[in-house]
Amino acid sequence: CGIVGYIGTQNAVPYLIEGLSKLEYRGYDSAGIAVNVDNQLQIFKAKGRLKNLESIVDLNLPSVVGIGHTRWATHGAPSDLNAHPHSNQNQTIAVIHNGIIENYMEIKEWLIQDKNVVFKSETDSEVIAHLIDYYYEGDLLDAVYKAVDRMQGAYAIGVISKDEPNRLVAVRKDSPLIVGLGDNENFIASDIPALLKYTRKMLLIENDEFVDLTKDGVTIYNSLKQVVKRDIFEVTWDIDSAEKEGFEHFTLKEIFEQPKGVRETLMRRLNSQNEIVLEGVTLTADILKDINKVYIVACGTAYHAGLVGRRAIEMFAKIPVECDVASEFRYRDPFVDEKTLFIAVSQSGETLDTLQSLREAKRKGARILSIVNVVGSSVARESDDLLYTWAGPEIGVASTKAYTTQLIAFYLLALYMGKLNGRLEEHKYFEMIEALKLMPEKITEVLDQSKEIQKLAAAQFNNEKVFFMGRGVDCDIAYEGSLKLKEISYINSFAIAAGELKHGTIALIEDNTFVVAMATQDKLYEKMLSNIKEVKARGAYVFAIAKEGNDQLTKTADEVFFIPTTLDALTPILSVIPTQLLAYYVSALRGNDVDKPRNLAKSVTVE
Ligand code: G6P
Repeated sequence: CGIVGYIGTQNAVPYLIEGLSKLEYRGYDSAGIAVNVDNQLQIFKAKGRLKNLESIVDLNLPSVVGIGHTRWATHGAPSDLNAHPHSNQNQTIAVIHNGIIENYMEIKEWLIQDKNVVFKSETDSEVIAHLIDYYYEGDLLDAVYKAVDRMQGAYAIGVISKDEPNRLVAVRKDSPLIVGLGDNENFIASDIPALLKYTRKMLLIENDEFVDLTKDGVTIYNSLKQVVKRDIFEVTWDIDSAEKEGFEHFTLKEIFEQPKGVRETLMRRLNSQNEIVLEGVTLTADILKDINKVYIVACGTAYHAGLVGRRAIEMFAKIPVECDVASEFRYRDPFVDEKTLFIAVSQSGETLDTLQSLREAKRKGARILSIVNVVGSSVARESDDLLYTWAGPEIGVASTKAYTTQLIAFYLLALYMGKLNGRLEEHKYFEMIEALKLMPEKITEVLDQSKEIQKLAAAQFNNEKVFFMGRGVDCDIAYEGSLKLKEISYINSFAIAAGELKHGTIALIEDNTFVVAMATQDKLYEKMLSNIKEVKARGAYVFAIAKEGNDQLTKTADEVFFIPTTLDALTPILSVIPTQLLAYYVSALRGNDVDKPRNLAKSVTVE
């Protein structure tokens, strides 16, 4: 989500709309603003893109203070009601929030039972407005302090009040918040791009800090309400690089956002006893008992996540799984009935091939579970069970962070199903959970070695012939690594099960053919070594990806990238990352439009 706020002498509305337009890349399922007009709060919200909001607000409203929000739904579907700003019943307080209030259920119940508060939305954020109203006794900053004291979670919040038209209050904990300083006007925002049109002078707000803004000045307080001094930060970059937070492309930024996406997708689903809690999944042990087959259906990268998902479900829940590309699934008259669980995987939730397959499976009586990144999308709406990935908006056409979060969703689901049907031993379950929890850290370790991949890319980016190979789950990663490379570098690359090499493809290996060999699986390691030797003997240049400790590979392959050790079932989360980085650096070195590769679209809504 993105937030913005204005206080000054001009009409606030155009400032808010302009700020939001620069934040749309952070989320775009709904948007809203609140302004104080003659000591009354007026709130406008609209589902969908920002232009829907623009069509319902009057740009000339006489207001000099306001807040705005663009949403990427987590709690509650995208709708006018769930859009921000939120307010209390008498509309005396308006709030925008970016983040999550973890204990909102408890606060909500207390407000409903003890204070008879009526809630309008399904969001966690609405509790903030009611809490501030509850504590409000004429001083907005005071009330915000008291409300925040009860809240747990991550938040950047902006608040205005009907009775204090010359004041805007903001607070930050674990979600980004900056202040922009103007002449007779000041701003808040979640990101620098929202304000660059108006000022380059910023104050970077830190965790547990409160900000009191008027048109004439800004005061920052710490949690003890002591004034904090902050140096002005002068922004020197342009808007374009600010949106990418200093990364050259969204694709690279998104590759580096994977520790965060993985952590969010995983940690929000584990309770303190390490049990998996899947909010949108209503699959019970009774229902699962009758399911004798699972179909995983998706396109592109999401399909590749499905290949790994298939292994995980078969391994932990011990139910037979088929995985198919959506454009093929419907036309082969698949054997689907009411004993089938159909799993759709989609970042956008709008891919028509996937959606049509889902509808076909539904017609045949299957139960539909979806793994989706965009909340409220078509696939999400048409499913019985829903497991959201929390990767955040993915802008680069080539999918990266959506993929790793889809893997996490599959592991969670497979473990959940295995526990539910009793086919997964307890110690294996806990071993997996412990290993999963270490993933964000281990992904960071892999990303810390990105320079190695950059060097390799510099040596190989003109090589027009690339093969990826692997065995077992490594083969699934070979498919994804190869797809990434062809999507953004336009190199003729393809992937093969390493054992199949000798049955045909080896004829194509010649001097300097670039072979990426995935060799992370203990029980297949020796076999992979033989395959590497086979291609080496025919002149290939071999780049191997293996687990730390497998040092003898350095003697066989030309170059080895080591990922941190983990359970063999979980290596995909780590081993895919060097392949993403390779695709990225090769594409950038070839001067391609990395974020928007030719001929491809982020979301394909034709069959
Ligand atoms: C398009 C994109 C791919 C993506 C596929 C599936 O082809 O270019 O990157 O993997 O669609 O998209 P979805 O939104 O369903 O995951």
